[in-house]
Amino acid sequence: MKRITTTQLRKKARDGEKIVMVTCYDATFAHLVEQAEIDAILVGDSLGMVIQGHEHTIPVTLEDVIYHARAVARGCSRPHLVGDMPFGTYQASLDAAMDNAGRLLKEGNVQAVKLEGGEEYAEAVARMVRAGIPVMGHLGLTPQSVHQFGGFKIQGRSVGAAEKLKHDALTLQQAGAYALVLEGIPAPLAAEVTASLEIPTIGIGAGAGTSGQVLVLYDLLGLNNGFSPKFVKKFDNMHDRVVSAVNTFAREVRTGDFPLPAHSFE
Ligand code: KIV
Repeated sequence: MKRITTTQLRKKARDGEKIVMVTCYDATFAHLVEQAEIDAILVGDSLGMVIQGHEHTIPVTLEDVIYHARAVARGCSRPHLVGDMPFGTYQASLDAAMDNAGRLLKEGNVQAVKLEGGEEYAEAVARMVRAGIPVMGHLGLTPQSVHQFGGFKIQGRSVGAAEKLKHDALTLQQAGAYALVLEGIPAPLAAEVTASLEIPTIGIGAGAGTSGQVLVLYDLLGLNNGFSPKFVKKFDNMHDRVVSAVNTFAREVRTGDFPLPAHSFE
C-alpha cells in the first residue's frame, strides 16, 4: 500500500475533507492506527512526555525520534508519516538543520519533518523544501518554547501576538511548508489563519475551524488518568481498562486460574 502524500493531504483540505492525524511512537500502535483509517501519523517529540516520562519535550534527541519513527514506519504502510525535529536540532545553524532533517528522512523513514517556529526558521524551511524535504510548520503554543512562555499557555491572545502568528503562517507557506500545525490558540484566530492560507492547517487546542485535527494518541485513548488539558477529549478510558486487565492477570496467576492446560504444551 502506498503512503498518503503531501499532495493528497492538500487535496483533501481543498475538497473540504478534514485531515485526521494522531501521534504514534511504536509499531503496534501504528498498525492499530492504520486500521482506524487515520490520514497522518506524527512521530512527535511528545514522546519525551508520554514514552520517556519527562515533564516537557526539551530532552528528546534526534536519535530518539529516529528510533521511534523507524518502528512506526515498520508498523504501517498507508498513513502519511511525519517526524518531529527535536529542540536543538534546527536552531543552531542552517547546515545543522539541513543535516538533521536529512537524517530524519533517511534514517527515520518518514516522508516529512515538522519544526516549531515562524519567520525565524523560514530560511531553514525553504532550504529543506528546495532539497526535497517536505516541511510541516508548527505555530502557537509550541511546546519546545515552554520555558520562554513560562508554562504551557495559550498563545496569540493579544493583538500583537495574533498579528505575528498570522504573519508567521504566511511566511512559512511562502517558504514552502506544505501544512501547519496550529496549537493552543483561540479558535477564531485559527479559523482566520486557515482561511488566509492555501496549505492545510491541523489544529490541536485551536477549535474547529482548521483543516484537520491532531491529538496525542495516548491522550485520546485516555491512557493517562492524571492532568488532561481542556482541548483533549478522551475517546476511551484505556487507563482503567489496562489496569483492570493486568490486575485480572495478576489475580489469576495467584489463584492458579492461569495458565490452564489450553495455554500449556504437552
Ligand atoms: O509532539 C507532538 O506530539 C506534537 C503534536 C501535539 C502536534 O507536536
